Amino acid sequence: MSSVPSSRSFAPPKAAPASPSPPATETTVGSAAAGASGASVVACREAVGAEELEEYFAVRRRVFCDEQRVFDRDDRDERDGAPGTLHVVALLDGRVEGAVRLYPLDEPGVWKGDRLAVLPERRVHRVGAMLVSFAVRTAGELGGRRMIAQIQLANVRFFELLGWRREGEPAPYHGLPHQRMTIVLAAVSQSRQAR
Ligand SMILES: CC(C)(COP(=O)(O)OP(=O)(O)OC[C@H]1O[C@@H](n2cnc3c(N)ncnc32)[C@H](O)[C@@H]1OP(=O)(O)O)[C@@H](O)C(=O)NCCC(=O)NCCS
Repeated sequence: MSSVPSSRSFAPPKAAPASPSPPATETTVGSAAAGASGASVVACREAVGAEELEEYFAVRRRVFCDEQRVFDRDDRDERDGAPGTLHVVALLDGRVEGAVRLYPLDEPGVWKGDRLAVLPERRVHRVGAMLVSFAVRTAGELGGRRMIAQIQLANVRFFELLGWRREGEPAPYHGLPHQRMTIVLAAVSQSRQAR
């Protein structure tokens, strides 16, 4: 997922979760992610407290500013301070190593995900997949029926593997070609209601 255009009118984000997002999901990944020490525990949840939120933004800065250079020095925008926006972290053995953001759009039932980022040294250990699954599940549990995202072309296959489908043709988005993609959340909401 990528980003909405940067705005200078950034409002400071909330320091603690404001929405009833689901509890953390947790899994164990293999030794390659953990180095010589063995397995790592990966947990996804909404960022808790000001310090963790800063770590969350640091992951985004490192990936979208330093690595990809989509933004100059700061990728935050007005969405970060908007009510209803969720900042989700992926923790590996307690350290914030991945991030994603999600929020409801004006159209009822439609959520958007963006700013998906995993630190380069932590990639290909399913952290990104966990973050996307957590975002999808959370949007569904908060009443969303559909989620959309603007996806960099190099990541379209990654999203397809996670059940997303393409909508329309690629188009420039924030200076880079992106593919709009979507996933239906109704099944998530219904299965939650059925419990
Ligand atoms: C895209 C990104 C979030 C993926 O995170 P990740 O933790 O490396 O991905 P995962 O390990 O969860 O990948 C899950 C599976 O998808 C595959 N995969 C990962 N990235 C892929 C890609 N770009 N294309 C195709 N397959 C991909 C993995 O090999 C893995 O396959 P497996 O289940 O057979 O092992 C990460 O590469 C990243 O942060 N990139 C830079 C920022 C970025 O591009 N953000 C998205 C903007 S749209």
